[in-house]
Amino acid sequence: MRLLVLGAGGHALVVLEALDALGREVAGVLDDRATAPVLGRPVLGPLASLEAHGAGGAVVALGDNALRLHWGEAARRAGLALPALVHPAALVSPSARVGDGAQVMARASVGPLAAIGALAVVNTAAVVEHDCVVEDGAHIAPGAVLCGTVRVGAGALVGAGAVVAPGRRLGAGAVAGAGAAVVRDVPPGAVVAGVPAKPLRGSG
Ligand SMILES: CC(C)(COP(=O)(O)OP(=O)(O)OC[C@H]1O[C@@H](n2cnc3c(N)ncnc32)[C@H](O)[C@@H]1OP(=O)(O)O)[C@@H](O)C(=O)NCCC(=O)NCCS
Repeated sequence: MRLLVLGAGGHALVVLEALDALGREVAGVLDDRATAPVLGRPVLGPLASLEAHGAGGAVVALGDNALRLHWGEAARRAGLALPALVHPAALVSPSARVGDGAQVMARASVGPLAAIGALAVVNTAAVVEHDCVVEDGAHIAPGAVLCGTVRVGAGALVGAGAVVAPGRRLGAGAVAGAGAAVVRDVPPGAVVAGVPAKPLRGSG
């Protein structure tokens, strides 16, 4: 199945190289701004042209969680498949579930009975331990660690190198800053940072 890559920014570079490592056929890239080839792949048109290129599937390579969810839904409506992307150098437990359009990058680890939602990203060298749930469109950034039984809500971001203590929950759209140590639950939409993580905004 030929794939379209949606987005031409930094996250798309990581996605394209993961697709190369898997030997997947890429028809080209769609982006609203870029015109020059991206890692040798042509930019075929804007994101909204996704029905026009005769591809069977899409990988939504947009780092912004809301945009990734938006364009994932658009690709689905256009009849494109959204295959999960698991880099061959990732370690994914046989009992873990990885949803449609989810991306698990190189050296990431997903433990037993973990569930990665649709269009979620487990980025380079991130660790998602046993029994975690990462809901749709969330992003576990490079080097972040979710200890066992953590739940990360839809569209939430766990920043690079952050650690979430066992059993903690981040609500939908919450953000844990880079390097945070999350030892308390984080309400939906709140932004926390630091060690231990404290609210920056949105959670009083
Ligand atoms: C937490 C975060 C979202 C805050 O962004 P922001 O709202 O633009 O915050 P600002 O840069 O305006 O900083 C506001 C204050 O918070 C502090 N701060 C920002 N990020 C922080 C962090 N990660 N840890 C500790 N303090 C932080 C700043 O030093 C600043 O403090 P000051 O007011 O005393 O000067 C952002 O800094 C962050 O860490 N994002 C995660 C990035 C990431 O890992 N992306 C993954 C890409 S693959």
